Amino acid sequence: HPHLQTERFGREMEYICFTPSTQIIAHKRAKDGAPEGTVVVAEEQAEGRGRMGRVWYSPPKTGIWMSLILRPPIPLAEASHLTILASVGVREAIQKETGLDVQIKWPNDLLINGKKVCGILTELRGEYDQIHYVITGIGMNVNVSESDFPVELRKIGTSLAIETGRTIHRASLLATILKELEQTYFIYLQEGFSAIREKWEQGAAMLGKIITARTAQGSVTGVAERINEQGALLIRTSTGIVPVYSAEIDLPEN
Ligand code: BTN
Repeated sequence: HPHLQTERFGREMEYICFTPSTQIIAHKRAKDGAPEGTVVVAEEQAEGRGRMGRVWYSPPKTGIWMSLILRPPIPLAEASHLTILASVGVREAIQKETGLDVQIKWPNDLLINGKKVCGILTELRGEYDQIHYVITGIGMNVNVSESDFPVELRKIGTSLAIETGRTIHRASLLATILKELEQTYFIYLQEGFSAIREKWEQGAAMLGKIITARTAQGSVTGVAERINEQGALLIRTSTGIVPVYSAEIDLPEN
């Protein structure tokens, strides 16, 4: 891997042309004892998985569809830190590689000019308070063209090529993503979550704005204040501060 500048991330790399989902392969590898930092990357996915049971559109040779195996020495209750951490690292990588301004939509969507360019899916296995392993799935629209997108995604999705007007070299972008992810992960393990939280807040699209969070228990509308120690989004409503652990966020127009 001529581009790779990491200690561990991507040192074991499995490259697949076509698969249902890199998440499925990564779960298998993790169960078989693959080391931390193992990456599974595919050119195309038949049934890419998104959050909330959605499908992730993964056309051939135009994206980065990858899954990373982590074995963090942290309690299960802190697993949401990994989602936040991944969005910080990937944001950094895109900005370095393209110069584009990337915003984070809590918990883990990356937006450019208000449209989604990257989604992150964290899946884990553990029991009691122990994490066995975590799979961080990253789906990035790199060279997807406007006409490639299914019609229903055109208004909400974008790609790096659309935003920059040029074709992006995927292998070197992948190397930068792994480098930034590893750096962010090491900072997290050494300095703790507060260091990551600061970086997250610098890139957050919604802080200080009135948003609506749609949770399984109903909607919460108020001002997005910050994230707490558990990675929950704190929303200031007329009746007090509400922590939101899992939701879809509606941002205001503009
Ligand atoms: C989201 O819903 O925003 C998360 C999307 C995550 C997609 C990536 S693509 C690589 C990996 N394999 C999958 O099946 N899903 C993740």
